[in-house]
Order: sequence, then C-alpha cells, then structure tokens
Amino acid sequence: MERRSLPPTASVAHVSEGAKLHAPSAERNAAAITEVLVEIAPQAGRALEIASGTGQHIVTFARAMPNLDWQPTEIDPDRRSSIDAWAAESGLPNLRPAIALNATAPGWAAEQGHRELIVLINLLHLISTPEAQILISEMANALAPSGRFALYGPFLRAGQATSDGDARFHASLKAQDPTIGYKDLAEVKDWIEATGLSVIDIRSMPANNLLLVAQGPV
Ligand SMILES: C[S@@+](CC[C@H](N)C(=O)[O-])C[C@H]1O[C@@H](n2cnc3c(N)ncnc32)[C@H](O)[C@@H]1O
Repeated sequence: MERRSLPPTASVAHVSEGAKLHAPSAERNAAAITEVLVEIAPQAGRALEIASGTGQHIVTFARAMPNLDWQPTEIDPDRRSSIDAWAAESGLPNLRPAIALNATAPGWAAEQGHRELIVLINLLHLISTPEAQILISEMANALAPSGRFALYGPFLRAGQATSDGDARFHASLKAQDPTIGYKDLAEVKDWIEATGLSVIDIRSMPANNLLLVAQGPV
C-alpha cells in the first residue's frame, strides 16, 4: 500500500523513551476497550491485533488476558519497534514480537490463520472502502471457527456523523484523500456478515466510538 498523507490528527504518536512511541488516544481508550475485550474474548487461544500502532494497547490486553497468546502486527517499522519496546518493558510472556502486516493486502490470512481472537482498533476510517473489504475478508479467513472479531472505531450512523467533532474529522480525512473517511455502521456490518460471520454485539464506547463483536456460526 502506498503511504497515505493523513491529517495531523489522524494517527498521533509522540516519541517517548527509546523506541517507545506514545499515542494519547491509546492511553485514553485502553481501559474501556480492555474492559469489553475481557468480557467477550475466548478463554484461551491465539489473539492477533491488526494495526497495533504504538503497542500501548496490546501490552494492556496481554496483561489483562494472560491466557491468550498475543501477536501484534503493524505496517510501519517505527511502530513495530515501539511495540517491541513496550513489550520488552512489560516482560509479559504471552506477547510476541511485532510482525509486518499490511492488512489491506489480499492473502495475508494464509500465514496468520487459526486465531481465536482478532482485534482491530481505529483503522477503517483511514483506508478506502475496497481496502476495508479486503481487510474484513482476510480477517474472516484468519479467524478460527470458534473465534471472535472485535472492531473498534468511529462510524457514521445512517450516513451521518454523530457529533460536530466527528463531522469535522471525517471531512478532514476526505479533504486529504476522498477515498478514505468514516465508514457507515450498517455497511460495515453488511461487509462482516457477507463473510459468514454474525455481528453479535455493538457496544457504545467513549467519544462516540463503537465496539463491534462478530463471530462465526456456533
Ligand atoms: C490511528 S492508528 C491506530 C493504532 C492503534 N490501533 C491504536 O488504536 O492506537 C492507525 C494505525 O494503522 C496503521 N496502518 C495504516 N495502514 C495500515 C495497513 N494497510 N495495514 C496495517 N496497518 C496499517 C498505521 O501505521 C497506524 O499505526
């Protein structure tokens, strides 16, 4: 994927200590996301995070869900270094080294399959609709039959942003690149369900975000 230029507010991460990057948004939403994941995650197995960013989230998840083996992934090498630095500092035994993954490239599920949990936070609004559809299709192929998918982020509802701040951010994304921007909740649900998974839960989260949970037929 060619690198997109995004508005400065789209993916903020500051240099912290050593290779560690620090994203204020990840610090703000980590506890609320972890609380839902603890509730919906399978008891044990292999968890994959797509677009792990700085690594702040996955360290929190791995600490809160020690029976899951956590695999971080990222497209950006600086962020992979950051993930590994946060992981090394945590000393957690259930956290693997970050691997390079372009989640919008067809075919990645072949190497990343049989996951009991797949987590994706705050990426769909930064990619195009065809890329989001590829990502969702690969995610479904990578999910174990009993696995669950957790998707967190901002969404349009019936085509509308839910706050002035969301409308402004969506417009700033579109101004930078007309192919990206917030996706509509009903459409994303359709794309997920077209893979054979069902969306079994939609949680309201802080700052107008949603967390969708999907799983296969049980
Ligand atoms: C807004 S940040 C979210 C990071 C993290 N999930 C969080 O919520 O803190 C978006 C992340 O997606 C990554 N990214 C962008 N395009 C990607 C792609 N095609 N495949 C995988 N990761 C991608 C960026 O490098 C960035 O770390």
